[in-house]
Amino acid sequence: MSHLKTPATVAGARMTGLGAYRPDRVVTNAELAPRIDSSDEWIQERTGIIERRFAGAEETCASMGAIAGTRALADAGIAATDIDVVIVATFTHRHATPSASAEIAHLVGATNAAAFDISAACAGFCYGVGLADSLIRAGSAKHVLLVGTEKISDVTNYDDRGTAFIFADGAGAVVISASDVPGIAPTVWGADGSSMDAIIMQPDTLTAARVGVQSFLTMEGQRVFRWAVGSMGEVCERALVAAGIEARDLSAFVPHQANLRITNAIVKKLDLPESVTVATDIQLTGNTSAASIPLAMDALREQGQLKSGEPILMVGFGAGLAFAGQVALAP
Ligand code: UT7
Repeated sequence: MSHLKTPATVAGARMTGLGAYRPDRVVTNAELAPRIDSSDEWIQERTGIIERRFAGAEETCASMGAIAGTRALADAGIAATDIDVVIVATFTHRHATPSASAEIAHLVGATNAAAFDISAACAGFCYGVGLADSLIRAGSAKHVLLVGTEKISDVTNYDDRGTAFIFADGAGAVVISASDVPGIAPTVWGADGSSMDAIIMQPDTLTAARVGVQSFLTMEGQRVFRWAVGSMGEVCERALVAAGIEARDLSAFVPHQANLRITNAIVKKLDLPESVTVATDIQLTGNTSAASIPLAMDALREQGQLKSGEPILMVGFGAGLAFAGQVALAP
């Protein structure tokens, strides 16, 4: 039997550039509260959210993702034509096909890139980091552009007391490149489809189109909250063990910005020392699903609290119920 050639493997990969896009329109709790018989006080107390951003009518997942992607490329200092793969994590792209990644690759000028989307909801960004790391270490790509982008305002029912106040729009992106020194530790990930109804688009898009109604994102908030608080601490602990470091070695903890109470519960479970900076971008950005972790990294960087080359712990969790977490060196 003849041996087929395979690419030379590479020691590691690391995040080398970061970019973000926040839509202009700021939406306060006071604007959303009346339709759901809520209040600024309740929303802040239960979620930590003070305000969020909504995209404009002309903006799309792809247009926002392309801006974040272009900024990440500039930050990494590499040309779009050097990108081998564009991966986009989103659940709010307007077409089931073609992919948001093909559109974003075109918009940023990544003309030599393969492009595909991943559907892992709020875990999508961390799934993408794991995938990009694997592609690079296997020698299948040198430079990957990973984008998390969402326009959740398109699929939110503003009369739904369980979701209207929590979700928002935005995009974040990282460039991940081959590196002599490993900069992304193993990804701890999984999914539990037996709970697929806990966060789900209802009715499904085909049925919605047939009967002429809109398909909205629905969520059993308490059920998801209990799952996240009950199990994401352990996922983080497993990610730390997989990376071979202790919680005290971390520079920052950047969890999916789902709810400030969930973040605080995980911080407590991990017993994170005060030296570890905790991302709390949900306060001004809301829950932007696949975009929330790179947006939170960007906010830390703006505050001078993201130290390039220092280890950070990321964890994403949401519909699926899918989750993924890993330690990586900050871009
Ligand atoms: O990103 C993907 C993953 N998603 C998440 O991780 C989200 C997880 N879930 C959550 O963050 C929380 O469950 C929510 C923020 C969505 C809801 O907070 P909660 O503390 O779980 O509220 P609850 O549903 O347990 O309701 C508590 C109380 C109830 O009143 P009583 O029965 O205690 O008198 C509700 O009727 O708050 C009431 N309530 C509201 N009040 C004002 C429920 N929704 C609202 C509302 N405004 N919008």
